[in-house]
Amino acid sequence: MPLDLGVLISGSGTNLGAILAAVADGRLDARVRLVVSNRADAGGLEKARAANVPVRVISHRDYPSREAFDGAVVTALREAGVEWVVLAGFMRVVTPVLLGAFQDRVINIHPALLPAFPGVDAQAQAVEYGVRVSGCTVHFVDPGVDTGPIIAQSAVEVDPEDDRESLARRLLAKEHELLVRVLGWVAEGRVEIEPPREGARRRVRVKRAPG
Ligand code: GRF
Repeated sequence: MPLDLGVLISGSGTNLGAILAAVADGRLDARVRLVVSNRADAGGLEKARAANVPVRVISHRDYPSREAFDGAVVTALREAGVEWVVLAGFMRVVTPVLLGAFQDRVINIHPALLPAFPGVDAQAQAVEYGVRVSGCTVHFVDPGVDTGPIIAQSAVEVDPEDDRESLARRLLAKEHELLVRVLGWVAEGRVEIEPPREGARRRVRVKRAPG
C-alpha cells in the first residue's frame, strides 16, 4: 500500500522536490496528499503545484498559540487523507497536538549528525565548531527540538575550506537521498520504533528487506 504523505515546508522545498521526483519515477511507493507551508513565499509551494499536489498555506501568525496552529494543520492533513507526516525544511517546532494526531508517524530531516548541532542553521554550527565530519539525520519527531529517535544518518566530510553555503549544498544532496531511502523503508513496513520505556530513549530498528 502506498504511503499517504503530508509534507510540511517553510522554504525552498528541495527535500519535498526529492520526494516528488522519487514518487513520479516509481522509486518511492507513496502519494503526497498535501503540502502545507507556514509561509506563503515558500519556493516549495511551486514544486508541489507543478506536481499537481494540493497545497495549503497555514500561517502560524494567524493563530494565538503553537497548539492552535498545529490544530489547523492536523485538520488539513486529516481532510487530505494523510497517514504519515514529513517535516522537510519546516521551521516550526511541532507540539503534542500534531504528534498525538500522528502518533509515531512524524518524521524530520535535520542537516547534522544529531545529537550534534540541533536547532537552526546546523550547517553554520558545524562550520563554526570546526568539525571534520558532519552529515544529516532522519528521525521520528518527539516534543523536543531535534531530539526524537534516530532512524538513519549519512556522513559528509567537512573541508577546512568549507563555508556554510558549500557545506549546506553538499549536505542537501545527502539529505535528499537519505530521506527518500528512509521513506522507502517506511513504505515497506520495515521501520520499527521501540515502545516507550521509563527514563530510556526509544530506539529504532530497520528490519532487513524480505527475501
Ligand atoms: C535543509 O538543509 C533542511 O534540512 C533544513 O533546511 C534546508 C532546506 O530544506 N531544515 P528544503 O530545501 O526546504 O527542503
